[in-house]
Amino acid sequence: MQVLPQHFTVDYRFDVVFTRDVFAPDNQVLADLLAPPAGGRPSRALVYLDQGVLAGDPGLPRRIHTWFAAHQGAGVRLAAEPGAVPGGEAAKDSLALVERVARDASQHGLCRHSWILIIGGGAVLDAVGLAASLVHRGIRQVRLPTTTLAQADAGLGVKNAVNALGQKNLLGTFTPPRAVVNDGRFLDQLDDRAWRAGVAEAVKVAAIRDAGFARELAALAPRLAAREGAAMERAVRRCAELHLAHITGAGDPFEQGTSRPLDFGHWSAHRLEMLSNQRLGHGEAVAIGVALDLLYAALGGRIAEADAQALIGCLHTCGFRLWDEALDLAGADGRRAVLGGLEQFREHLGGELTLAMPDGLGRSRDVNGIDETQFERALAQLRRWRPQGSSLVASPLGR
Ligand SMILES: NC(=O)c1ccc[n+]([C@@H]2O[C@H](COP(=O)([O-])OP(=O)(O)OC[C@H]3O[C@@H](n4cnc5c(N)ncnc54)[C@H](O)[C@@H]3O)[C@@H](O)[C@H]2O)c1
Ligand SMILES: [Zn+2]
Repeated sequence: MQVLPQHFTVDYRFDVVFTRDVFAPDNQVLADLLAPPAGGRPSRALVYLDQGVLAGDPGLPRRIHTWFAAHQGAGVRLAAEPGAVPGGEAAKDSLALVERVARDASQHGLCRHSWILIIGGGAVLDAVGLAASLVHRGIRQVRLPTTTLAQADAGLGVKNAVNALGQKNLLGTFTPPRAVVNDGRFLDQLDDRAWRAGVAEAVKVAAIRDAGFARELAALAPRLAAREGAAMERAVRRCAELHLAHITGAGDPFEQGTSRPLDFGHWSAHRLEMLSNQRLGHGEAVAIGVALDLLYAALGGRIAEADAQALIGCLHTCGFRLWDEALDLAGADGRRAVLGGLEQFREHLGGELTLAMPDGLGRSRDVNGIDETQFERALAQLRRWRPQGSSLVASPLGR
């Protein structure tokens, strides 16, 4: 036998830039990101635009045009008119967008040194991001997330995917973007559902990573509910930092292990999204999944009851519904259908089922299963959950 051992590493770097009004003619952020190195060849960009963003800001394509015209000197130009794509889960419920991007790239002669700019919510970023990672085995992509959830979580990471065969994110790749630009202007136009969605991810990550942030969120809840921009900016920024620290600092950016340490509350959330036929958005499902797992964790003594209640109260104050009838659906085997999420979660990563659970506020420990009796108790508590006074700010979160 002869063995030729191979080993190489690939270095990834990308900036997450926070700015306001990225397409204002004098905004330099994209010019700095897209400009070829000195002496390099000029490049071209295709821009994809979430229809939901477009509906709220019909002047955006014109501003994009004006911006590219004003920055011709930076060495990047539009390859075609910005293309509007369906927003929300429809974007990633088939491979249609992937094929469309492939056709566009082929028709306009894009190469691997071209750019694909994706402006949209997490679903559009996921679907067009998958396309960008496949066409020519990868065209450079810059993501411009336009929802709180995408700016705080979905748009920052190294993953993309579309749904297939009735499963969330069945087809996807790990492909880091070349840059992420979080533009606060996009958040102003969100409806209340999309505005609050990011808070679910913030509560999720605070519960298992940062007790201080958990306290802060509980205090911020009324201001988040009142749509105060500065409060949301703070929640989004800290949530983004915690996600990025995990992706780049935890040693497993491409999830080779069997755990998804930041996916607290997600085993049921992903299942609820599908069980509700996507009536529940990702953030809404995560709010329920997190509330459920917080109650479960409190029953098992993994987190103080008061801390769990304060975080659930924060979600409630922000306007999330914490119960959905999809929780009562039965599967073909008569078992509670949401529990099927456990098996799907395990299959997605392979190996043993591994779930993140709080280990005191702001810390987590993996568990390898759910006690169904305890789960039913948590479910019963969630079903009759009511806010417990207005003790959020004064609650003893982790102190
Ligand atoms: N890749 C990842 O790591 C990752 C992580 C978490 C979630 N996700 C995915 O992200 C998706 C959810 O993303 P989301 O919460 O951003 O929602 P979304 O993409 O489903 O968008 C929700 C709605 O808001 C509209 N919209 C988007 N931006 C808008 C704006 N600025 N103004 C007005 N309307 C706007 C969209 O058109 C859509 O109708 C899910 O598919 C989820 O699986 C991916
Ligand atoms: Zn999520």
